[in-house]
Amino acid sequence: MIKPDAVGRRLVGECIRRFEQRGFKLAGLKLQVLTREQAERHYGEHQGKPFYAPLLAFITSGPTVQMIWEGADVIAQARRMIGATNAFEAENGTIRGDWALSNRYNLVHASDAPDTAEREIALYFDVNELVDYSMPDEHWLQ
Ligand code: PPS
Repeated sequence: MIKPDAVGRRLVGECIRRFEQRGFKLAGLKLQVLTREQAERHYGEHQGKPFYAPLLAFITSGPTVQMIWEGADVIAQARRMIGATNAFEAENGTIRGDWALSNRYNLVHASDAPDTAEREIALYFDVNELVDYSMPDEHWLQ
């Protein structure tokens, strides 16, 4: 997910470009302002933590972009490309290391495991919104 700060800073294209260049395949894409309920379901595990309320306020404050990327080892690779949650700990060359400002305004979210990805995809997409197709270079990327 591209968060409202990245949309507001016109970094949507930059984020998508990095995943494309890395060889991943886009299987779903959506621009939407999250409802309070979607945000609560997404971040429910953090309920009770001091940053929960500000996180919900931030994530519902403007448009977000939901993306589904497919590819070999995509979950681990995407998290490496995104960098550490706290902008000041994120390595240069990662999305957050290059542009993020804090651990709240950190531009992107990535699912941390296959079951989380399944849950988060179901939260934002209907099954008929996922697009199944082949890329011409797939045989180099397996
Ligand atoms: S924890 O407690 O270690 O699991 O939390 P952490 O992984 O550091 O952060 C979980 C998500 O909460 C966001 N976060 C915040 N949002 C708003 N304000 C503050 N202060 C704040 N601190 C952490 C953080 O960006 C993580 O979001 P995601 O989308 O999961 O990366």
